[in-house]
Amino acid sequence: MKPLHCTRTITTMRGLFAVALLLSTIGSSALAQDQLQRDLDVPYVPTRPAVVDKMLDIANVSKDDMLFDLGSGDGRIVITAAKERGARGVGVDLNPQRIAEARANAKKAGVEDKVKFVVGDLFKTDFSEADVVTLYLLPHINVKLRPQLWEQLAVGSRVVSHDFDMGPEWPPERTEQVEGKTVYLWTITPENKKAVKVAGNRAQ
Ligand SMILES: C[S@@+](CC[C@H](N)C(=O)[O-])C[C@H]1O[C@@H](n2cnc3c(N)ncnc32)[C@H](O)[C@@H]1O
Repeated sequence: MKPLHCTRTITTMRGLFAVALLLSTIGSSALAQDQLQRDLDVPYVPTRPAVVDKMLDIANVSKDDMLFDLGSGDGRIVITAAKERGARGVGVDLNPQRIAEARANAKKAGVEDKVKFVVGDLFKTDFSEADVVTLYLLPHINVKLRPQLWEQLAVGSRVVSHDFDMGPEWPPERTEQVEGKTVYLWTITPENKKAVKVAGNRAQ
């Protein structure tokens, strides 16, 4: 059984996401809707600055890292990693409006040479060069993405998620709390790579 505080957090987050989805649907113009390749899997809810810092801390992000934020919103995680830690980064978002905001924010922050923002579907993205992948998605989207993370990422790469875990089959190696939010960390292991190979062989 899930602890009560955990269930409450997920319920609150689902509520927040539902409100965000409703507001974004009401607020977005017909043109913006037309620009979307398909419906969003997750509505836009930005990560608060203290949580961004905790996500970068838990993964020990440094100048040697290439960070991918899958569903990058206004680019804040990628931009903070570049500005404050010297990392390079890529943000991917299905919503062109978010990508335009992220590019403007990167320019304002003076990190355009270190970051790139791409309109795209995270499920169709090649993120294999990432040392760190950051996520603020939803529980079922994390679980759906899990085999792609195991397949694409090298052993030793880190995955960080704001608020949501990866299901019972992939327990986090560490969690941290900040401002009432949970940040999860996983590191890709040889066992993860083997498991995805075995699943692939079985499917053939
Ligand atoms: C909860 S927001 C997180 C934004 C940012 N990562 C942050 O933490 O501040 C989720 C983002 O995922 C984007 N998104 C939803 N479905 C997507 C998909 N299939 N591929 C890429 N981006 C997607 C949304 O447009 C939204 O900006």
